[in-house]
Amino acid sequence: MDASLLPRHIGIIMDGNGRWAKKRLLPRTAGHIQGAKAFRRCLRHCIDLGIGCVTFYAFSTENWKRPKEEVNAIMKLFSDYLDEGLDISEDDVVMRFIGDVTPLSDALKKKISDLQSDTADNHGLVCNIAVNYGGRDDILHAVKRLIKEGADPETLDEAALSDKLYTAGLPDVDLIIRPSGEQRISNFLIWQAAYAEYVFMDVLWPDFSEKDLDAAIEEYSKRNRRFGGI
Ligand code: FPP
Repeated sequence: MDASLLPRHIGIIMDGNGRWAKKRLLPRTAGHIQGAKAFRRCLRHCIDLGIGCVTFYAFSTENWKRPKEEVNAIMKLFSDYLDEGLDISEDDVVMRFIGDVTPLSDALKKKISDLQSDTADNHGLVCNIAVNYGGRDDILHAVKRLIKEGADPETLDEAALSDKLYTAGLPDVDLIIRPSGEQRISNFLIWQAAYAEYVFMDVLWPDFSEKDLDAAIEEYSKRNRRFGGI
């Protein structure tokens, strides 16, 4: 595909792990384990396609309402992933965790901080993993920072607020993919998605394949984006 038709920034809502497991009479955590494999597959395919930036919604500010065992299992998957390290195809990736990581365990925070600093000077795809992330929280956090820094309301503009979001310096999200048949935003990148194209797909996240990503990008490339113009 013509590189100019590729989205610069893709957002992915990794949804449907629980239903994937339920269909197989497995515990929900089995769905998350397969979901983590789908995440790795999808990240590798984004690299192969030459995508500049991808944000995976891994754990929302609302996901703490889930049973403790499930929350712990998801945190363990993050921790295992950080222990495994990146594979060779991911060598040049810049890894970032976006969201408020303060409630995570000290051990997990240390691993996150190490991976972020180890990859900060890379030049390839930027991969954001959104953990304890909420779009409203992102905006509120940005506004608090602006107030603390004494921003002047007369001159404050959209760029200044964007610059305080967790995604500061990255392009707005062009394409948001939500598998699992649900058609909602669920508090994901709500500021950054002002002009995003949405592609909703029926596949459950653990089954999400390279072909599904290709299909979503193909659909995106056919959309006529007008950004409020004609
Ligand atoms: C939503 O599906 C999924 C989650 C809240 C967890 C997502 C986490 C992973 C895929 C693991 C990611 C791992 C790494 C290493 C980034 P759901 O449980 O709400 O599914 P359901 O709607 O079918 O119940």
